[in-house]
Amino acid sequence: MAWDPAQYLKFADHRLRPALDLLARIDVAAPGRVIDLGCGTGNVTAILAQRWPAATVGGIDDSDTMLARAREEHPGLPFATANAATWTASPLVDVLYSNAALHWLGNHDQLLPHLFRQVAPGGWLAVQMPRNFGAPSHTAVADAARDGPWADRIVPMLASPPVDEPGVYASRLAPLADSLDIWETEYLQILDGENPVAEWTKGTWLRPFLDALEEPDRSGFEAAYRARVAAAYPPGADGRTAFPFRRLFLVARRA
Ligand SMILES: C[S@@+](CC[C@H](N)C(=O)[O-])C[C@H]1O[C@@H](n2cnc3c(N)ncnc32)[C@H](O)[C@@H]1O
Repeated sequence: MAWDPAQYLKFADHRLRPALDLLARIDVAAPGRVIDLGCGTGNVTAILAQRWPAATVGGIDDSDTMLARAREEHPGLPFATANAATWTASPLVDVLYSNAALHWLGNHDQLLPHLFRQVAPGGWLAVQMPRNFGAPSHTAVADAARDGPWADRIVPMLASPPVDEPGVYASRLAPLADSLDIWETEYLQILDGENPVAEWTKGTWLRPFLDALEEPDRSGFEAAYRARVAAAYPPGADGRTAFPFRRLFLVARRA
């Protein structure tokens, strides 16, 4: 899909918090080789490089627009284009880190063990993925998709939630792990602005649906989505909007 770095970075502070919470649980002082998989604009890659200044730290993504922004803002870091689903490490890495990226890829049954095998013995796999797909922010996409002349084009794009229950990931990783730390956090994000939940999803989950439509259906579908989300997340007395958002974290050390 075509990413818009400016739209994605509108909520950079809220999006950064889980990246840091994930990083805090990786218990290694001086890894040699660190990869940020699905690095986007590279702002988290730069934080990984600050945490481990002696390491070789690089970012991988498959979006030209996101990587262009990463290279512009972090010219000292190496960024490469690759598909996370088929990427292999040579040599194996000491930390494979991925924040808010792997939910865009299917087939987690195969993907997670494959990625864990790219980590050297004693190294770390650290993954954070949204798991908010049952909330109105995300169910309103399907509701609005079905409710208009655009349905025949975008209903086929609806798929079951891409991120499984935490226990499923424990079973997938356990055979390769000597330690596993898996948890969920629901952040109560307090957002400013007009219909901010719609602005949030416009930077991520809504995007492929908008990209698949032309005018006037594009605007019609977006308006139908925005109306549902505005009703589901009304602003409080202070004019700000509370947006609960659940995320899944996995930190595993390779046996
Ligand atoms: C929500 S952004 C997160 C970016 C960054 N990790 C961060 O925390 O700011 C998701 C990123 O995953 C990337 N991505 C999605 N599917 C991918 C794939 N198959 N291979 C590589 N990158 C992918 C997108 O291009 C996008 O930059």
